Amino acid sequence: MVISNQKDLMGIMAIGRICGLTLQHMIEHAEVGMSTAELDTIGASFLAKHKARSAPILAYRFPGHTCISINDEAAHGIPSKDKIIQAGDLVNIDVSAEKDGYWADCGMSICMPPIAPERQKMLDTTRAAFDVAFETAKAGMFVFEVGRAVEKFIVRNGYQVLDQLGGHGVGRGIHEAPSIPNWYNRTMRQKLEENGVVTLEPFLSTRTRVVMTMPDGWTLKTSDGSLATQYEHTVIITKNKPILVTAIDA
Ligand code: CO
Ligand code: CO
Repeated sequence: MVISNQKDLMGIMAIGRICGLTLQHMIEHAEVGMSTAELDTIGASFLAKHKARSAPILAYRFPGHTCISINDEAAHGIPSKDKIIQAGDLVNIDVSAEKDGYWADCGMSICMPPIAPERQKMLDTTRAAFDVAFETAKAGMFVFEVGRAVEKFIVRNGYQVLDQLGGHGVGRGIHEAPSIPNWYNRTMRQKLEENGVVTLEPFLSTRTRVVMTMPDGWTLKTSDGSLATQYEHTVIITKNKPILVTAIDA
């Protein structure tokens, strides 16, 4: 959506804050030995307390309030009581929700201790790739310009992008135009609009650029078992730096 009045701005900032706080709350409570269903329930309670509704359930009837994806799962992992978080796991938590007709989306990968140095490096690079997207995205720019900068950064650091996963418009729904790929696709000539609400969400992979849908119909795994990480925020595009909507303190 494009913000056109104060009410829109307040509505987006309110749901953005709730999503950010929920993500932070889940990160703080993630523990080795906990099932991803337990972690999801912690997020669900937090959303309910703030009178927000899970976007994946609302928009897609997803079987979980949040998406929790581990190691070679890149996205849309289904919370399960049978999936136990292990020491050293890369855990991606993605929180998106709606309140009063406004939607926001954020996500982050973390590593459970003990953190292998190469996993810490991957997390740091994922975060830095988000910063590249954040510094690049400006009103009037083609979406492929963001992808070009992000891909260049990721590949230069020895990782790959996941071609099928990227940023998107958000605000009045969870997935809106434009798509913002994390790679240089010069056919993507849509422009970032001033006051447009979008997500920036680089995904990194250790080798492959491809994800495959698992037989559960949701989980996206890397095609060759590559590790995958993501860092995502909802932002408002301006002529200068974007405005961070889903701020967290982590
Ligand atoms: Co998103
Ligand atoms: Co997300």
